[in-house]
Amino acid sequence: MSALQELLVEEMQDLMHAEGQLVKALPKMARAANNPKLKQAFEKHLEETKGHVERLKQAFELLGARPKAKVCKAMQGLVEEGSEQIQEGKEKEEAVSDLMLVAAAQKVEHYEISGYGTLRTIAEQLGESKVAKLLAQTLAEEEKADKLLTELSPPLLEEANQQPAEEEEEEERYSSARAGKR
Ligand SMILES: [Fe+2]
Repeated sequence: MSALQELLVEEMQDLMHAEGQLVKALPKMARAANNPKLKQAFEKHLEETKGHVERLKQAFELLGARPKAKVCKAMQGLVEEGSEQIQEGKEKEEAVSDLMLVAAAQKVEHYEISGYGTLRTIAEQLGESKVAKLLAQTLAEEEKADKLLTELSPPLLEEANQQPAEEEEEEERYSSARAGKR
């Protein structure tokens, strides 16, 4: 195995773990979404994500490597932030809460887009055209999911813009923080 082949397998292990985490996180995001189209987008991407895991398994097999997952700290962080957003969103207006979910999901998509883009390029360099094709298929779905999230945003942005900020609550927090200092 060349160093580049080894790199490809290691990076695939990272994405394997990332996708596995998303299979668990996406149902929670779908449940938290208020907007029906956003909910649907998360549900659809959950099904696609299961397919991404399958494609990675096929790619491992083509490379004669074991379909192992290596802890992906980046995705752990993104998923953790996403669940914080879900919690915080419960206190907020529906559109604001949905926008927080969109933001979290797009960070995830961009991570995956860069991951799959790199892997496809490495696979092409190695002449592993079948592997490159599998990775390109997933890459296209990630890009489509990202684009859909962008398309769903304008009405949410407009609605959130009509809502007053929660200034009172902020002030309260600051004044109690000040009171605590005295
Ligand atoms: Fe994916």
